[in-house]
Amino acid sequence: MSERIFLFDTTLRDGEQVPGCQLNTIEKTQVALALESLGVDVIEAGFPVSSPGDFASVQAISKTVRNCTVCALSRSLAHDIEVAAESLKWAARPRIHTGIGVSDYHINYKFHSSQEAVLQQAVDSVKKARQLVAEVEFYAEDAGRADNVYLARVVEAVIKAGASVINIPDTVGYCLPEHYGEKIRFLMEHVNGIENVIVSTHCHNDLGLATANTLTGIQAGARQVEVTVNGIGERAGNTALEEIAMILKSRRDLGFMTGIKTQNLLKTSHLVSHLMGMPVQPNKAVVGRNAFAHSSGIHQDGIIKNSATYEIINPQDIGLEEDTMVLTARSGRSALRKRLEMLGVNIDSKRLDEVYERFLRLADHNSYLKDDDILALVGQERTANRRIKLESLKVISGKGLQAHADMTLMVAGECRSASSEGNGPVDAAVKAMKKIIPLSMTMQEFLIQAITKGSDDTGKVHMLVEHDGNDYYGFAGNTDIVTATLEAYIDAINKFI
Ligand code: KIV
Ligand code: ZN
Repeated sequence: MSERIFLFDTTLRDGEQVPGCQLNTIEKTQVALALESLGVDVIEAGFPVSSPGDFASVQAISKTVRNCTVCALSRSLAHDIEVAAESLKWAARPRIHTGIGVSDYHINYKFHSSQEAVLQQAVDSVKKARQLVAEVEFYAEDAGRADNVYLARVVEAVIKAGASVINIPDTVGYCLPEHYGEKIRFLMEHVNGIENVIVSTHCHNDLGLATANTLTGIQAGARQVEVTVNGIGERAGNTALEEIAMILKSRRDLGFMTGIKTQNLLKTSHLVSHLMGMPVQPNKAVVGRNAFAHSSGIHQDGIIKNSATYEIINPQDIGLEEDTMVLTARSGRSALRKRLEMLGVNIDSKRLDEVYERFLRLADHNSYLKDDDILALVGQERTANRRIKLESLKVISGKGLQAHADMTLMVAGECRSASSEGNGPVDAAVKAMKKIIPLSMTMQEFLIQAITKGSDDTGKVHMLVEHDGNDYYGFAGNTDIVTATLEAYIDAINKFI
């Protein structure tokens, strides 16, 4: 009989801390519903005291999600905890996640405090949270680098104060798998009352060890794992949900199981990547575009004879359907809707009509449309209601010619035009745009990728724009790559304007 591991998803909190990946409330609710369908046990919906937007998102998710625990983060401060409780008022199963740094680095340099004072603050915050909600999770921040004996004292004290879940984060991704496992085992063996609570892993991937550490944590006694879709998160990210779900499913011999409906993994991955504008690396385990692509002749031969020769996961188990339906200019709305649903995008009939119109225009230029084309189309749809829109763009460029761009933007419903020269078509177009939107901003990363092949292909642009010390991602696709570039730039600007 396998033991149940609880999945705590923090895509909307730790994952969303990635610069440029901020979502609005509607987008966050969409992700939360997808996580609910995926079968996660807990959704960490945000850090409500951090901004009114985060508060509103936690509140909206609390009202919408019924089958998961909804959790809100707080520091060990009474005001944070009160705000978190308020944001969770409508949740079917609310949980406050409160905590404090417990390593010497945090105690000495961040708080200029002492072990005893931090321990007391931890206890007080758990007691405070327990007055407001029934379920309190305590995080011992930077537990990965904390002294085990002190950590055990803190954990024992917060359990006595009423915490029912204890999170042991490797906040900076420093632990090696054996050390993280030993840490959890030490707590399991030395803390009175630990048998009455759930111990949770929370691993960061700075050294590429997040999944391995999570696994040794489980083997040492942790029964909850904190993860994000596609492993997104600050710096190198968090443990990837899909990796843990598939490890425990494909390695039944380990004796653990989750409640994840793995057939939904791929579409949830697509949805998060698409809404956050964060491409998934092609060789990403489980959900990367190449994760099931066998290109060498020897492997293809083996797969044809018996898929077990080179495949340890059945692609259908993660929701990778055979591409039975090719979308062309003759495809109808229902085929488009079905493909969008498969990609994790649900849109109403009115929006479908608009996307379909653009789909037909694009399909006229391409023999058939791949999934990335389709997502690029919905990306345009997503930006259609934003404050700034590209109305028209004319660029003259070529060998021996001075590049020149004329452009009209719609800014908050008002048409504004400008022209500029540049050292190439992109430079001319960006300079013209900056005449209309004279904000200080710089393009930090700029990636153009062909979606399929051929000169009639769609160019997909990912862009990172820096403004006021913050980074924002933009994304767009178009058969005209200068237009795609400008639309990606505008997509990023719309996130901070
Ligand atoms: O990494 C970490 O320590 C965290 C805590 C706030 C839970 O994200
Ligand atoms: Zn974290």
